[in-house]
Amino acid sequence: MPIRPFRPEDLEKLKQITAICFDGVSIDRNIEAAFGQINGRDWKFRKLRHIDADVAGDHANGVFVFETDAGDVVGYITTRLDHESGIGWIPNIAVHPAHQGSGTGRQLMEHAIEFMRTEGMQAAKIETLKQNDVGSNFYPSVGFEEVGLQIHYLMRL
Ligand SMILES: CC(C)(COP(=O)(O)OP(=O)(O)OC[C@H]1O[C@@H](n2cnc3c(N)ncnc32)[C@H](O)[C@@H]1OP(=O)(O)O)[C@@H](O)C(=O)NCCC(=O)NCCS
Repeated sequence: MPIRPFRPEDLEKLKQITAICFDGVSIDRNIEAAFGQINGRDWKFRKLRHIDADVAGDHANGVFVFETDAGDVVGYITTRLDHESGIGWIPNIAVHPAHQGSGTGRQLMEHAIEFMRTEGMQAAKIETLKQNDVGSNFYPSVGFEEVGLQIHYLMRL
């Protein structure tokens, strides 16, 4: 199985993959497209902080990477467990474009779902932007059902 638990030395690679993959499918990118940089920071600064949060402390135990036979990390998925609510969350999943379309994302998703199930979660949740086609095909194909739509707003102060 080419999927293994995250190690701290993977972090920079996860950030590289994130910066490439979320251009066009992230709220932070949308904000920049509409308003330009905020506080001198670009969208990648904000998005990459999410990855820092995903691997902080115990959260790192729910982060998995896909490693090729050559030892390259080409994708990842992050999870958060909420034992009180029983609902696990998938904050981020990404596969480097050069490796997309060959089942890597689906394997990562199935691994994360099984991890959350074995950790006692009763349900799993994930969010995506309407502009991201994965919401209309990939997520339903693994069993997710739409429960609501949310609109993000921003104003300069
Ligand atoms: C979403 C992502 C992780 C899928 O990784 P992947 O390795 O290409 O996925 P798979 O090859 O396992 O494909 C899984 C399914 O996703 C769908 N899919 C993959 N990429 C897609 C895309 N860009 N647009 C629409 N559907 C896509 C395919 O229909 C596929 O279904 P199939 O197996 O029935 O053909 C990858 O496209 C990615 O990194 N995207 C950018 C980041 C992103 O959008 N993350 C999710 C934010 S909510």
